Amino acid sequence: MSKVIILLGAPGSGKGTQAVRLAEATALPHVSTGDLFRANIKSQTELGSRAKGYMDAGELVPDELVLDMLFDRVGHEDCRIGYILDGFPRTMPQAEALDARLDGSVEQRVANLQVSDEAIVERAAGRLLCKECGAIHHRTFAPPKVEGVCDACGGPLYQRPDDAPDVVRERLRVYTEQTAPLVRYYEERNLLTHVDGSGSPDEVFRNLLTTVQPDAEAQG
Ligand code: AP5
Ligand code: MG
Repeated sequence: MSKVIILLGAPGSGKGTQAVRLAEATALPHVSTGDLFRANIKSQTELGSRAKGYMDAGELVPDELVLDMLFDRVGHEDCRIGYILDGFPRTMPQAEALDARLDGSVEQRVANLQVSDEAIVERAAGRLLCKECGAIHHRTFAPPKVEGVCDACGGPLYQRPDDAPDVVRERLRVYTEQTAPLVRYYEERNLLTHVDGSGSPDEVFRNLLTTVQPDAEAQG
């Protein structure tokens, strides 16, 4: 049976950091709508230019742009076994569109990463991304071995424009208004588990793994 794991959580709660680890542990592909948009912006596609203004302002990209892009990606062969969603769904229409697409033969699990607003601002302020491969670092919590250089591929590190403090505050506001209601939506379907996202990345990962893959420990 194929499996879709959804990582819910505020901006900066650690979805991307944990999704990379989960993808390694489960062999499911990591699908991040934020990364897909950033790749479109980098390669200067029309979709990228339509999304950029929303992203830089901390607003959500309109549903129709997100849905076309996401469903195109998860239609690829590597997603037949399932996939890990990071940053999707983020609105009620997106959740409903996903449900309509997944038939009953797909197992869905939703993990809600919980982190205080204070920690989120600190995480966003120090985040560094690789321009080449997108690997996530942090000035204090996950510092690169060589300043300004990606540990994974040697590419240059940069700060996301939407990690400026005023944009982070707007992203948090948008999250509370448009995405937080999805917690209830998935709770009512008995699909959601809350995961404490405040510990170290290793601690969070251990909790997450037992939530989304309860048999993982037995497999070693
Ligand atoms: P997106 O890229 O998805 O951003 P986000 O949801 O705001 O989440 P972030 O990527 O900021 O945080 P994260 O939870 O992945 O945390 P990370 O692991 O990096 O979306 C960007 C924009 O695209 C949106 O604002 C919107 O405009 C648009 N968009 C995307 N999807 C959309 C959709 N479905 N609908 C509409 N619009 C959409 O961690 C953050 C930092 O903390 C890192 O530096 C990391 O090293 C550090 N860190 C992580 N875990 C820990 C830990 N346990 N302890 C200490 N530090 C940690
Ligand atoms: Mg992310």
